[in-house]
Amino acid sequence: MAEHNALLCPALDKVAGEEFLQKAFQIMLEEGVRKGMDASEKVCDWKEPEELQQILDLDLKDGGEPQERLLDRCRDVIRYSVKTCHPRFFNQLFSGLDPHALAGRLITEMLNTSQYTYEIAPVFVLMEEVVLKKLRELIGWEEGDGLFSPGGSISNMYAMNVARYHRFPDCKQKGNWAIPKLAVFTSQECHYSIQKGAAFLGIGTDNIYLVAVDEKGKMIPADLEKKINQAKSERAFPFFVNATCGTTVLGAFDPVAEIAEVCARHKIWLHVDAAWGGSALLSQRHRHLLNGVERADSVAWNPHKMLMTGLQCSAFLLRDNSGLLQRCHCAEATYLFQTDKFYNRAYDRGDQTIQCGRKVDCFKLWLMWKANGTRGLEQRVDRAFAMTRYLADEIKKREGFQLVIEPEFINLCFWYVPPSLRGKEGCTDYCLRLGKVAPMIKERMMKKGSMMVSYQPLGNRVNFFRQVVTNPAVTREDLDFFLDEIERLGRDL
Ligand SMILES: Cc1ncc(COP(=O)(O)O)c(C=O)c1O
Repeated sequence: MAEHNALLCPALDKVAGEEFLQKAFQIMLEEGVRKGMDASEKVCDWKEPEELQQILDLDLKDGGEPQERLLDRCRDVIRYSVKTCHPRFFNQLFSGLDPHALAGRLITEMLNTSQYTYEIAPVFVLMEEVVLKKLRELIGWEEGDGLFSPGGSISNMYAMNVARYHRFPDCKQKGNWAIPKLAVFTSQECHYSIQKGAAFLGIGTDNIYLVAVDEKGKMIPADLEKKINQAKSERAFPFFVNATCGTTVLGAFDPVAEIAEVCARHKIWLHVDAAWGGSALLSQRHRHLLNGVERADSVAWNPHKMLMTGLQCSAFLLRDNSGLLQRCHCAEATYLFQTDKFYNRAYDRGDQTIQCGRKVDCFKLWLMWKANGTRGLEQRVDRAFAMTRYLADEIKKREGFQLVIEPEFINLCFWYVPPSLRGKEGCTDYCLRLGKVAPMIKERMMKKGSMMVSYQPLGNRVNFFRQVVTNPAVTREDLDFFLDEIERLGRDL
């Protein structure tokens, strides 16, 4: 009886739900967007994990909570989260907030659909194709294929899988037992997802040949050729070269045109990981950094990094237009991709992916592109380069700041040398002590909440800062603050 009554009325209070949403949106706008983008507010409100756990009262309980309490919880979540849209957040390869992209993300969330079939996502199926085509055109391909994937790492893994299938189609059914030992080539500076991909796909990390880089962090094509010959002599089958356009730390661009020559000579699939640097293709002034990218077989490009669409937006693009992606991944599930559909099944693109449900990632980019036009996006890219140039020049003028490398892209890598270490380069413990400076400054800035920037060691270089500006809301004042603050936080070390 109780069950019967339960069915008579809906189990969701729509009016209360709408009221909650309105208030939650208001909080989001005030606490997240307005305060988040305000330079006078903190970038982060640092708490130790134990303290944060106490504040947030995270345990899930048997009973529900009143709306006001839930709204307080929303406020707390925003308050104690890092504001990646803050003009002094320089920590990641993504930052900033584009209002149109955010609207796209919210509408996508609201519609809560999956990109796999035309019947459930008609608008987004058509839209994804238009956006991918535009990205392919910027690469220089008139035709091709592609999809939006859950990030650059996955796009790189897609590339490996498609390349393997292209060379050894039997592998899909028979597995790695049916094919020779495969060899992957990538530079020492590549993103770690290449390593993960080799492990994930059963290729094995031991079968990655790391190609040497020059002093700028760019792959040396002659060494690539050497490593390919070495792999052949070790009875491995070279099938995949990954060239990086915009390496994660130094922002180096591998010489794709020369690498393409080597790949053509040895008939090896060329993938370009342009997850970071791909957006330079939008700039007439800087697109030369990717010269030769049109010769790649596949490209990974993350608009969620430099273009500020918000996570995630990563395109995996393919030069092939023969349906390779579909053949490589299809499983033909008849409950989803019925063969007797009432519309053209060619619009059901979901079976060309490794996923089932797939988030809509094209809309935020599409809406932002519509709002800014290609020219507007180009200006953003050019501005990011100009900001980095400004900072690099400032660094050269300031005592105690030392560039690790002259920036070619928008990765600004530098050491801050505190007064106590200046002129002590010859001391035996100099590097050891210098390596401790960046982590200590980082701790101080986070506890103060004034800004965020990342640091890392690289090869034989001890910890240095890597600063990145992609956010067009950043002003020269923010950049001056950035250098001043490093000095303020580090001068007594
Ligand atoms: C060069 C490069 N490739 C791939 C990736 C991975 O991208 P995602 O974080 O979207 O997986 C990154 C991330 O920083 C990167 O710098």
